[in-house]
Amino acid sequence: MNICHVVGARPNFMKIAPVHRALSQYPAVRQFVVHTGQHYDFNMSDVFFQQLGMPAPDINLQVGSCSHAQQTAQIMSRFEGVVLERKPDLVMVYGDVNSTVAAALVCAKLGVPLAHVEAGLRSFDRTMPEEINRLLTDQLADLLFTPSPDGNANLEREGIHRDKVHLVGNVMIDTLVRMLPATVQSLSTELPERYVLVTLHRPANVDSPEWLGEMIDVLERIATRVPVLFPVHPRTRQRLAQRMNGNLLPAQLRLMDPLPYLEFLGLQRRAAVVITDSGGIQEETTYLGVPCLTVRENTERPITVTEGTNILVGRELARLPAEVEKVLAGNGKKGVVPSLWDGKAGDRITSVVLRSLGGAQ
Ligand code: UD1
Repeated sequence: MNICHVVGARPNFMKIAPVHRALSQYPAVRQFVVHTGQHYDFNMSDVFFQQLGMPAPDINLQVGSCSHAQQTAQIMSRFEGVVLERKPDLVMVYGDVNSTVAAALVCAKLGVPLAHVEAGLRSFDRTMPEEINRLLTDQLADLLFTPSPDGNANLEREGIHRDKVHLVGNVMIDTLVRMLPATVQSLSTELPERYVLVTLHRPANVDSPEWLGEMIDVLERIATRVPVLFPVHPRTRQRLAQRMNGNLLPAQLRLMDPLPYLEFLGLQRRAAVVITDSGGIQEETTYLGVPCLTVRENTERPITVTEGTNILVGRELARLPAEVEKVLAGNGKKGVVPSLWDGKAGDRITSVVLRSLGGAQ
């Protein structure tokens, strides 16, 4: 049987790795990986394949950065040729990026079975491009793998037949569990004893110069109390450069390039608190038991709030320094690790895939 995986953007890479590994145990399974090229910088892509022990992608569609419509359309037109030529029995897509929905649409049009890993998550905020990607991909998928029970409830409400839906747990945590012992300590020599780790890249946070400015002001205030480490996503770097207009970058903030997986995980596990607008980092901090302050008004990962260490601070930026103070005083939010976030989601997905494709064991 011939399985095609499609990935394109940084958060996809830790999700494909455990599924690809688990499927590779079965000699009857042939797999190939299509990288759309949505992310293309070494630090946003190649280094993840290296560190996660993934073979380099078999095909790169090299779409690069452009508007959402152009990016989605280019992936579709290039991926269609791949599917027609390589005739996969199943295409697997991951998460909620433009590459995910583009590949899903191609499969639906060609009648090729589609599996969606990380199905059912909903922020109920359609201004987020990812929410549109999630809704459409789930409507088109034949196999839907959810990380938590809220995903199953959302899919049921949307009329998706429960036979298609499998609660398997969190594949991103599979990778975290496997890689945690290898987190690079080299950074730790120069690390402060206590620090705040920041990532911000959502359009809602970085595209408005005024809002970005307010956020940087707040981070500078926090940095007068405790060091702030800020690996900067390319999108955010562009916006910051526009805002600073040649002026000095904020001195108290330690801005750095995007970090490889192991280095970032190493920073996360030792952080006093993380400030972020990422989806995956809300999950990783919950697993690690590190308090997380999410600068968003909603989350498609509510279990990180109800069970984990995550707090949504929304647009109330003044809450950030106050919550950081709480953590520094030893009163950070405690949580538990959600069930099935145990490092075995990739194995569970593999069992379902093999069963649905008629064996191969
Ligand atoms: C994308 C995903 C988002 C995910 C994020 C993780 C969508 C709609 N968004 O957002 O869900 O959380 O990836 O990083 O799919 N750029 C580079 N080098 C790169 C990639 C991007 O310089 O390797 C720059 C380009 O100028 C580009 C900008 O970053 O225009 C944004 O990249 P894009 O892929 O459009 O969206 P992200 O913000 O990365």
